[in-house]
Amino acid sequence: MKTVDIKVAGKPVQAREGETVIHALWAAGMAESVKTGCVGGVCGACTITVRFPDGRPGRTDLACLCTAEEGMEVFPCPVDPVPSVAPQASPNAGKLRTAYPTLDRCTKCGSCTSACPMSIPVMDSVLRMQSDQLSVVAEDFTTCIHCGLCRFVCEDRVQPHNMGMWVRRSIGASLGPLKEAVVAVEPEQVEREWKYLLEGNPTERINHARQFRNSGGIEE
Ligand code: SF4
Ligand code: SF4
Ligand code: FES
Repeated sequence: MKTVDIKVAGKPVQAREGETVIHALWAAGMAESVKTGCVGGVCGACTITVRFPDGRPGRTDLACLCTAEEGMEVFPCPVDPVPSVAPQASPNAGKLRTAYPTLDRCTKCGSCTSACPMSIPVMDSVLRMQSDQLSVVAEDFTTCIHCGLCRFVCEDRVQPHNMGMWVRRSIGASLGPLKEAVVAVEPEQVEREWKYLLEGNPTERINHARQFRNSGGIEE
């Protein structure tokens, strides 16, 4: 099988073509090099930054979804958690500002949006927080995996995803108790989605997982 040479934290690693950075590290006996959780693009543990040899701009990514490419340099980028702020019922921009006085520090640099592996429009959502469009903000952060990369790259320490989660939790805290949870499950749809995620070669499966996480659906 064809192999590619990459570096992880300055150490050479050989990966099979199409393999993710995490799987290459496992095969090389270097599992401890990058923090790892679900290995499915869900938990946000395996944050990295990546540089390419051909002049393409570097980027942030998840090591469990990032396919190794010849000459790629990978740097572990663990993001420390920050204390959470308790949600408040009936949230609005004023309450959000009190909870997170960092809200108005945003300089609209766009780094958070570029850093997000889930393609969430993070900067636009921060602007929506400022103008009290909190129901849209809650939608924006639906696919957030709490990796913290948007916070990590923000030089103004705005903490976008912590605010997004505060909004979602606060809207949730405003709902009355659910008397009956009725979940409509269509078995054919579930079957189609599992087939989509599990079939194909490893590269296709990774691409399907990434696409599914970003859009919440499958490509027909
Ligand atoms: S990285 Fe920070 S300052 Fe830049 S757009 Fe995002 S929240 Fe605003
Ligand atoms: S919004 Fe921030 S914490 Fe959430 S997935 Fe995107 S980068 Fe990660
Ligand atoms: S290990 Fe969970 S997102 Fe990569």
